[in-house]
Amino acid sequence: MVPSARFINNAIGLLFVSPAHGSAAMIRKQLQFAIIALCSLALPALAQDEPGCLDCHAQEDSPELHQVFNSAHGDVNGGGAAACTACHGPSEAHDRRGRRVSPDISFGPKWGSEPAAQNDSCLACHESTGGKLAWLGSEHEQENMVCADCHDSHTTRDPVMEVETAQTQCLTCHSRQRAELNMPSRHPIAEGKTACTDCHNPHGSTTHAALHQVTLNENCYSCHEEKRGPMLWEHEPVTEDCANCHTPHGSVHDNLLTARGPAQCQQCHSAAFHPSVPYGGEGLSGSMNANVAGKNCMNCHSQVHGSNHPSGARLTR
Ligand code: HEC
Ligand code: HEC
Ligand code: HEC
Ligand code: HEC
Ligand code: HEC
Ligand code: HEC
Ligand code: HEC
Ligand code: HEC
Ligand code: HEC
Ligand code: HEC
Repeated sequence: MVPSARFINNAIGLLFVSPAHGSAAMIRKQLQFAIIALCSLALPALAQDEPGCLDCHAQEDSPELHQVFNSAHGDVNGGGAAACTACHGPSEAHDRRGRRVSPDISFGPKWGSEPAAQNDSCLACHESTGGKLAWLGSEHEQENMVCADCHDSHTTRDPVMEVETAQTQCLTCHSRQRAELNMPSRHPIAEGKTACTDCHNPHGSTTHAALHQVTLNENCYSCHEEKRGPMLWEHEPVTEDCANCHTPHGSVHDNLLTARGPAQCQQCHSAAFHPSVPYGGEGLSGSMNANVAGKNCMNCHSQVHGSNHPSGARLTR
């Protein structure tokens, strides 16, 4: 503890008025020296009557806040109280009268700043890093989300940096995807083999659905390279958009398909045209073929993603 100015004045006064007796004079000299030394230590502290962030937000009062010094942000702005102001702003008004006035930038809970102000604080350093250039205009930004909805800065290691904890966070809001993760056919997301962030940039992207890749098909090719082609005989809907037949997260139909069996194909191909319906069907030209009726089109047209066989024009080989 630093003694108050009044205490020091009184102590000095007492020493000088007290009568000198033999060896007491010696003690007094030593005491005077000690007090001068004490004063020279105390004076700078007295001159600094404006407390800094760390005087009020001290380690012993709020150890969890101080975890920031053990994080990636420990040294920003040179560390110490300057690190606090890197994100929260100089906060001079708050610094003086901490109890009544908000710091310049607060992420809450008491004086939460406008979302844009909060985000600008982080983006001042991060706009150009890690694909956050598309943040402005992204769905998350449009929904008034803030960096701190996903990020936790006052902790040794921001939990979103671990895939598993990041995903838990995504799923608290995205309940439809949470349901899809447990469907009979699914990308192995719950199993930890693929992650939301393998396909999506949580900070937005310039393409569809905040995907990392420029098109949906490019996203699929990044892992299913063998589907890329080029094929000798291409199936138009495949090269156009995998989502013509597949849904990305989970499906009740095998192979992440959007529909079952012939119905999948008959969204585009006339059921009447092909002898895959019983003889006598409306507008039917051919005869009924027992091998076709009610069967999955894939039994014969197995190369639905395209064929490289010289006679594969009908995607049958
Ligand atoms: C004079 C003491 C004091 C100083 C100095 C001080 N604070 Fe505070 N600060 C407080 C108190 C007290 C609260 C809690 C207010 C409440 O919850 O009622 C607080 C709250 C905060 C909050 C939470 C705001 C919110 O919306 O919940 C932040 C962030 C903050 N201070 C940052 C800083 C920063 C950065 C500095 C240095 C620039 C600083 N403080 C300096 C006393 C101080
Ligand atoms: C990297 C940016 C960053 C730095 C550096 C930083 N903060 Fe924060 N602070 C935040 C964010 C973001 C929150 C919101 C809660 C969270 O995500 O951890 C927050 C929350 C707070 C709160 C409110 C906590 C609560 O839940 O009541 C206080 C008080 C605070 N910060 C003070 C400080 C002090 C003091 C320092 C310096 C030791 C500091 N901050 C350094 C970003 C930062
Ligand atoms: C003064 C500049 C500065 C500000 C402001 C800032 N950061 Fe950082 N941030 C850094 C630096 C430097 C690093 C460490 C080097 C790196 O990984 O790029 C970092 C690292 C990170 C990381 C990686 C953490 C890890 O454990 O590897 C995350 C996440 C992050 N910042 C989020 C934020 C968020 C959210 C905010 C706003 C609340 C913010 N930053 C504000 C400079 C800043
Ligand atoms: C929807 C959740 C979410 C929001 C909102 C969010 N982030 Fe992130 N952020 C993540 C996840 C998840 C990661 C982990 C790395 C990855 O896969 O992209 C991450 C990683 C980071 C990193 C470290 C790795 C890198 O890419 O450099 C920084 C820095 C960062 N975010 C900054 C920000 C800033 C700044 C904002 C606000 C403008 C923000 N984030 C908003 C989820 C989010
Ligand atoms: C705080 C709630 C919240 C969290 C956490 C959250 N999101 Fe979102 N996200 C939304 C909202 C709201 C929308 C817009 C409405 C919608 O499409 O559901 C959205 C939209 C999206 C979109 C569609 C983007 C587009 O451009 O069409 C994707 C992809 C997405 N989020 C992925 C993620 C991922 C990945 C995470 C975890 C890293 C995550 N979200 C975490 C609330 C959240
Ligand atoms: C294998 C890649 C992949 C993974 C992994 C993935 N997504 Fe998606 N996601 C997509 C594609 C592709 C779309 C676009 C679908 C479309 O438009 O037909 C999409 C769309 C979305 C949308 C927009 C709404 C919609 O359904 O159109 C949200 C929200 C979303 N994903 C959230 C998530 C979350 C949360 C996770 C993790 C649990 C996740 N995604 C994992 C590829 C993926
Ligand atoms: C990040 C890598 C990755 C991306 C991107 C990706 N996939 Fe997958 N996909 C996988 C993995 C891993 C499996 C599981 C393979 C296994 O279990 O052998 C899988 C399985 C599948 C399956 C079979 C599902 C089942 O029920 O057996 C289909 C269909 C599929 N993916 C389609 C797509 C489509 C369409 C896209 C683009 C929207 C896509 N994938 C993007 C990694 C990916
Ligand atoms: C015309 C509908 C259709 C389109 C479009 C389509 N698929 Fe498929 N896909 C299927 C069917 C049907 C299956 C069932 C598996 C089988 O029997 O070959 C399947 C199965 C798969 C499988 C799992 C089995 C395997 O072959 O590895 C993957 C992966 C796959 N598709 C990826 C893709 C990708 C990537 C695209 C876009 C380039 C795409 N699909 C476009 C109909 C389609
Ligand atoms: C999104 C619409 C769409 C879906 C769904 C679809 N196809 Fe196609 N398919 C097409 C188009 C477009 C062509 C090209 C037609 C042309 O060249 O005249 C085509 C061509 C074909 C051809 C070659 C026909 C020819 O004239 O050479 C076969 C065989 C075929 N599809 C089978 C299937 C099967 C089997 C399925 C179900 C797994 C399916 N298609 C699903 C749109 C679709
Ligand atoms: C028993 C095997 C078999 C089944 C099952 C089958 N097809 Fe075919 N399909 C063929 C053969 C063989 C041809 C080639 C006929 C030809 O060249 O004249 C053909 C031709 C086609 C063509 C191209 C027609 C054209 O213009 O020449 C399309 C499109 C097609 N089938 C779609 C389907 C759809 C959709 C289904 C499921 C409802 C289906 N097929 C089920 C054997 C089958």
